[in-house]
Amino acid sequence: MKDVKISLPDLLKARNRKQEETKTIHFSLAKEYENLGKDKTYYIFTYGCQGNEADSEVMAGIFEKMGYVKATDPYLSDVVILNTCAIRENAENRIWGVLGNLKGVKRENPDMLIGICGCMPQEEKTTNRLLESYPFVDLIFGTHNIYNLPKLIKEAYFTKAKVVEVLSCQGGILEDAPKHREHKHKAWVNIMYGCDEFCTYCIVPYTRGKERSRAKEDIIKEVSDLVKQGYIEVTLLGQNVNAYGKDLGEDYTFGDLLCDLDKTGIKRIRYTTSHPRDLDLKTIKAMATCKSVMPQLHLPVQSGDDNILKKMNRKYTHQMYLDLVKTLKEYIPDIALTTDIIVGFPNETEEEFQNTLKLVEEVKFEGAFTFIYSPREGTPAAKLKDDVSLEEKHRRLDELNVLVDKYYKEGNLKHLGNVEEILVDGVSKNNPDYLCGYSKHLKLVNFKSSDHSLIGKLVNVKITEAKTWFQMGELVDE
Ligand code: 5AD
Ligand code: SF4
Repeated sequence: MKDVKISLPDLLKARNRKQEETKTIHFSLAKEYENLGKDKTYYIFTYGCQGNEADSEVMAGIFEKMGYVKATDPYLSDVVILNTCAIRENAENRIWGVLGNLKGVKRENPDMLIGICGCMPQEEKTTNRLLESYPFVDLIFGTHNIYNLPKLIKEAYFTKAKVVEVLSCQGGILEDAPKHREHKHKAWVNIMYGCDEFCTYCIVPYTRGKERSRAKEDIIKEVSDLVKQGYIEVTLLGQNVNAYGKDLGEDYTFGDLLCDLDKTGIKRIRYTTSHPRDLDLKTIKAMATCKSVMPQLHLPVQSGDDNILKKMNRKYTHQMYLDLVKTLKEYIPDIALTTDIIVGFPNETEEEFQNTLKLVEEVKFEGAFTFIYSPREGTPAAKLKDDVSLEEKHRRLDELNVLVDKYYKEGNLKHLGNVEEILVDGVSKNNPDYLCGYSKHLKLVNFKSSDHSLIGKLVNVKITEAKTWFQMGELVDE
């Protein structure tokens, strides 16, 4: 059977995007797809960032609108979708491994439909590899055409051919899509899509398209509706939320949005992720004055060395970053700052690495995601020669992690003895007698309780012990 190739990815096209107006697509399900999933099940494996988690909630919503029910066992499901991440090679390797497992499953159950979507298919090399070496994959689609899922599924069913649709355009905005949200008390809310920063190591601007902001009315309505449904917390999502509104050509920017969302009555607002260059005073003031905006911020620094920052195209120096942290602490004294750091960028010297350690010591981040640089084909940094051995990169990562963990624990110690407000997520993974949730500062807190009616509620917990990655506490009677 011949493949149905509607469109293939093109990284060059993704980079050289034009200044086209952003299209808003209003989702509605055509009648012909309404019963396609009758008596059938679906399962979505999600990898990578919160953006992917939010996309999977939309896909789940679309599946359910088509009549599908979520499978309890992925390997017995009628449709399995892998929503993938391309940020680093090890993220991709994990997914190739899962695909390898699915090969055997498909042999046992040839009627199973296997689809792969998200950032990986946006890369030419991945889609070519899928086409050449993974004949059991039925459906390949990208990040810009989730709205087309019903049509793609139908085509895969009826043609029994491999259906490929990966768009490398700048991407649109999807409104009115159904969502099956993972939680009943906290929700992701996309406020913008794409990224125009083009950090030299990063594949995201190519896989996720141009920066495009949702209309503020649509965001405010979504959050207001969530409040009516009883949601307590929203996390505003975007690759660079601080650039919100820039593409709309109005004066209304991220700080204004925070203030308007504060008025909806939602109790907790968080946002991720930020770019230091675009984090402005208006936003910091909004964080300080809006009660619902939590005193916590993830502010990726990537490196503490000016030469490396320049090579990364981060557009700030380590001093600019430190000044920003100073301003943040002036306005929000108890702010809990976390970050992302990459070690082993091509040709990073020991001295440059030491500058990163110095910056970590100065800021005392209360947590960090740390990574070894991973070359991504098609990005400028991937063309650089690199004289640092992988062994040395691992050594640097280990050294950095020791320091990061020290301040992680110091951050957790700050609240010892305090009564903190916790939004209860569920039963603790390590002990069924304990519940766990997050404090305002995004600290993971475990406390003893068998009262499952507390899940999804705000409770007061006295912090009794600080571990490196979490806190222990005792429920306080109201
Ligand atoms: N190699 C290693 N880490 C990367 N990140 C992005 N691209 C790469 C890469 N090529 C990290 C950055 C970013 C986080 C989401 O992933 O630190 O902030
Ligand atoms: Fe990647 Fe930089 Fe955009 Fe973040 S800001 S998604 S690191 S290009």
